[in-house]
Amino acid sequence: MINPTERSANIEYAIRDVLIPALKLEEQGRTILKLNIGDPIAFDFETPPHMVEAYCRALRDGHNGYSDSQGYKPLISSIVEHERKKYGTELDPSKVLVTAGISEALVFLFGALLEQGDEILVPGPSYPPYTTLVKFMGGVARTYRTDENNGWQPDIDDLRAKITNRTKAIAIINPNNPTGSAYTRQVLAPIIDLAAEHKLPIISDEIYDGLVYDLPHTSPLALSEEVPMVLLNGFSKVYMVPGWRVGYMAFRDTEGRLDGLYDGCIRQARVRLSTNHPAQVASLAALEGPQEHIEENRRKLMERRDIISRRVNAIDGLSVARPEGAFYAFPRIDIERGPWKNDKAFVLDMLETAGVLCVHGSGFCEDFGKDHFRVVFLAPPAELERACDAIEDFMATRLRD
Ligand SMILES: Cc1ncc(COP(=O)(O)O)c(C=O)c1O
Repeated sequence: MINPTERSANIEYAIRDVLIPALKLEEQGRTILKLNIGDPIAFDFETPPHMVEAYCRALRDGHNGYSDSQGYKPLISSIVEHERKKYGTELDPSKVLVTAGISEALVFLFGALLEQGDEILVPGPSYPPYTTLVKFMGGVARTYRTDENNGWQPDIDDLRAKITNRTKAIAIINPNNPTGSAYTRQVLAPIIDLAAEHKLPIISDEIYDGLVYDLPHTSPLALSEEVPMVLLNGFSKVYMVPGWRVGYMAFRDTEGRLDGLYDGCIRQARVRLSTNHPAQVASLAALEGPQEHIEENRRKLMERRDIISRRVNAIDGLSVARPEGAFYAFPRIDIERGPWKNDKAFVLDMLETAGVLCVHGSGFCEDFGKDHFRVVFLAPPAELERACDAIEDFMATRLRD
């Protein structure tokens, strides 16, 4: 028996960990509504046909070798143009790196940024790799509070209080996973000021930027040229191709303060040779082809967001802040009124009893996620209604007054 290293044995990923008991129930013949994974293709969303055609064409045209480690050059140019149109910001194409999704960008970034014991500020709750991968790399993820009573917006005082002499960067995930919050200019401006004051770079994860419901999306890149920023984005969610594994990171700094960090990332990129070449070629069609599907999907999701918010808020023992972006809601459980020892026990009980699979909130942050669960609202309206019926019945059997 060869034992795994401690650092790998400690890896947890709540979103997929909860799938194991669900699959066991399915083996026993139970039907489970899986509202745990943010994959639109698992529901009634489709990859735009012009992108599928572009992928097939890329294969036929012979893009089957490795690409440049930095990425397919025409795609990099297109990304620069795309970001310029969105934010009026000029990215330097020599500082844009195409990766196997934001997931790989995070490996490169934390690998290049963090020495043992270095800290990074991440929103609490947040997408698990921001804590898990940081720990894997020997760093410390310090979570700053986001406030449920204020639409899960960052608590700037808590953020300020958590800056130390080991802090290396502030991460912003906007719109946020798992809370579905979207940040306004008024919220982002003081975070940028804080970053400027402490000479910290901002890491801005904008994977859901085209899926914002009531406000326009605001990027910190559009608000400041002075503060160094690493933009993370990709094609998984807005362009409906999570399986293609294409994303990108862009280092924007007028004074070259991020050049070393970029160098640490491109060195790692060379070791993995290249990311999926035909998928990069086809991603060009995503940025340069028709965009109507984004608005159609946004409207579809807005209707589902409204169903989840209305139904969950009508269930005794649950309440939810209305999501403003992405496809997640993060309801609070009135846990003292039920038999559960924690939110994980709640999620497992709901799975067994109601046949609905969600993810426990503490899997996104022990401090600020506990006593919550994340529900993905990608499913069609009838399925969401059925899930809410089942959750409502389940809560009625469990709650004490
Ligand atoms: C906030 C956030 N960032 C990044 C990712 C991963 O994206 P990718 O498919 O580009 O690796 C996800 C996936 O759910 C996410 O929610």
